[in-house]
Amino acid sequence: MTARSAPTTHGPRSRLPTRPLRCDRPKSYCSGWCCFRGQGQSSDLASGLLLLALEGTHVGFHAAAQRSTRPEGTLDTVAVNSATLPGMSSLSREEISSLVAATEHWHHVIRFPHGIASPGAYDPTDLLERLALPNDMTGMRVLDVGTRDGFFAFACEQRGAEVIAIDHAAPQLTGFPTAKRILGAKTDYQQANVYDLTAKSFGFFDTILCLGVVYHLRHPLLCLDRLRDLAKSGATLLVESLVCDDRFFVAREEAKSLRELAPALTGFPIAQFLPAYRFHSDGSNKWSPNAACLQAMIEEARFDVERCDTWGDRALVQAVAVDDPERTRLNEMDRGLRNVF
Ligand SMILES: C[S@@+](CC[C@H](N)C(=O)[O-])C[C@H]1O[C@@H](n2cnc3c(N)ncnc32)[C@H](O)[C@@H]1O
Repeated sequence: MTARSAPTTHGPRSRLPTRPLRCDRPKSYCSGWCCFRGQGQSSDLASGLLLLALEGTHVGFHAAAQRSTRPEGTLDTVAVNSATLPGMSSLSREEISSLVAATEHWHHVIRFPHGIASPGAYDPTDLLERLALPNDMTGMRVLDVGTRDGFFAFACEQRGAEVIAIDHAAPQLTGFPTAKRILGAKTDYQQANVYDLTAKSFGFFDTILCLGVVYHLRHPLLCLDRLRDLAKSGATLLVESLVCDDRFFVAREEAKSLRELAPALTGFPIAQFLPAYRFHSDGSNKWSPNAACLQAMIEEARFDVERCDTWGDRALVQAVAVDDPERTRLNEMDRGLRNVF
């Protein structure tokens, strides 16, 4: 991965860490399908259980992160939230251990009571920090698209939100049901395809999370349109994606920075299409937009971008749902909802 030495941030809320973050592998290598295939776990996790060596320290779901960038045994001082979910600690260490070990597929590292964490390949704690969610989300309806093991859904519930978590994968292929039980969470997992979401079935939302999903989709604009249909006017959309600015593929798993390859294109909205396995070993990665393109697509879907935070080959865009008659007219024309002439 080509990591930026100085990741860029834009907009009023750009007060986030600038170091390269994430799991051991670039996330673009890990759509999580590898975890479904059981390749994401190292031999020391053979028991299916990762016990953090943090004896004497409360390391709940909401608490400290252990990042690959941090010296072993030290703690992240960022407490995401000091609240816990009801029922979270009602299970014994043994009960939690055996529930975690009995779960076949874990994608997220989720920290449970008694220093037990799920053995996922991806620790989302750093992205959670970047999201800068309000500490109190009471009264908000949140949609988490592509929830997988539910890390972000549970984080929102923990802040008081009512959360709908959707994913097109069957729940038993994820750690969601186990994490929900251990955390005593209320959030339901609904198996659904983002393309099929309607306000009639799901209602309207104040905050929509679409993290690690759009670059897997053959139809990212359709996804964004669907999300706009479910957004209340003024709702917040958070989209995180693979981006090609610093990782434009020139051969399989070989990439250069776009600035180096085509300096004249810098800043123009462009996306690299990734035909299965030609450039990427993860055949489920379909598109790698540059950050300008990701923002432009989100704007086209009738959101205004408030900030864009980039690091390595990833970008996070925060946007607000707007009612813009001209963008609505063009959007409706494209969907055949309005005459072209
Ligand atoms: C890389 S994981 C991201 C998980 C989580 N959002 C995160 O950021 O860690 C992508 C998830 O999106 C789901 N997904 C992919 N395409 C989808 C679609 N069309 N509709 C709903 N979910 C989808 C996958 O099943 C997978 O769980």
